Amino acid sequence: MTIGNTVGAERLSRRMARGCEFLGSEVAILGGAMSWVSERNLVAAISNAGGFGVIACGAMTPELLDAEIAGTKALTDKPFGVNLITMHPQLFDLIAVCAKHEVTHIVLAGGLPPTGSLDAIKGPGTGKPAKLICFAPALSLAKKLIRSGVDALVVEGMEAGGHIGPVSTSVLAQEILPEVAQDVPVFVAGGIGRGEAIAGYLDMGAAGVQLGTRFVCATESIAHANFKKAFIRASARDAIASVQIDPRLPVIPVRALKNAGGELFTAKQREVAQLLDTGSVEMAEAQLQIEHYWAGALRRAVIDGDVEHGSVMAGQSVGMVRKEEPVADIIAALMGEAVQALEKRAA
Ligand SMILES: Cc1cc2nc3c(=O)[nH]c(=O)nc-3n(C[C@H](O)[C@H](O)[C@H](O)COP(=O)(O)O)c2cc1C
Repeated sequence: MTIGNTVGAERLSRRMARGCEFLGSEVAILGGAMSWVSERNLVAAISNAGGFGVIACGAMTPELLDAEIAGTKALTDKPFGVNLITMHPQLFDLIAVCAKHEVTHIVLAGGLPPTGSLDAIKGPGTGKPAKLICFAPALSLAKKLIRSGVDALVVEGMEAGGHIGPVSTSVLAQEILPEVAQDVPVFVAGGIGRGEAIAGYLDMGAAGVQLGTRFVCATESIAHANFKKAFIRASARDAIASVQIDPRLPVIPVRALKNAGGELFTAKQREVAQLLDTGSVEMAEAQLQIEHYWAGALRRAVIDGDVEHGSVMAGQSVGMVRKEEPVADIIAALMGEAVQALEKRAA
């Protein structure tokens, strides 16, 4: 990946140097793990194009993860990471699979690292310990994570696709970067669709960025043609967060393109709330029905192409996804825009 030798290019590579060194990549852009989408083909393509691909382990078994890491290694000799979800029942077996393959970077998503997981990833006796990257949804948690020994942070705002927190990327970046960016590399995620925004967050002290939505329509992505078409047609306002309608029935917000599935989910919540009111179901059963509603829904959309009833998780930057194109072109465009933005800083 060549970014030229202009003033803007020199400024960009200086601002990305720390993130690149940490990741072992040419550009400090992580391809955020996306369940079903971030498998060997997309991950290897991102790493081969100079970025840093991350395998989404999601609900994979240790055996499937083992095969996915091996498959990715067969497609790239560049570094890549593995994203593990903290509540996976076999988290420690998955960590062992990563260790077996000497995976260099583990991204832990879904909450604070459970007891013992930090030691399993980085502790003594782990041979070549992996670098651990965690999500920091607030400044206090960012500080806590750094104290507990994580190597880098992702700060992800609610513009992002998939499961989201309540605060926007711009506010989180302002709250967290000035306080902790000197201690560990911080990667900003959520709503980034163009290089100007990347330049902006680098100027604020980020070591790099993480993008998900922008990579879904890469030529190398195995997402179903219907899934990609839905992305290309959508605008920012189509990517909406799921809404909880009853305080008794918790819903973790997910940002996805609005479709019939989303409307049926609202109807399902109403139906279950009524059953609770009449005493026809117990609270635990009611909550389980809500929690399980979306099980398999992302797969249904990404792999089967049912974009009406499946979950078409997408961030607000979806409006900036205009066509299917190779990962290398996406990264080159982002870098070009960032270079231009930084070039202008000279004026
Ligand atoms: C379809 C889809 C699936 C996702 N799945 C996961 C996941 O399994 N684990 C995770 O940590 N983040 C997941 N994310 C979030 C991405 O890793 C990334 O942080 C996010 O997409 C960045 O924001 P952006 O979509 O605005 O670029 C997903 C996002 C999308 C769009």
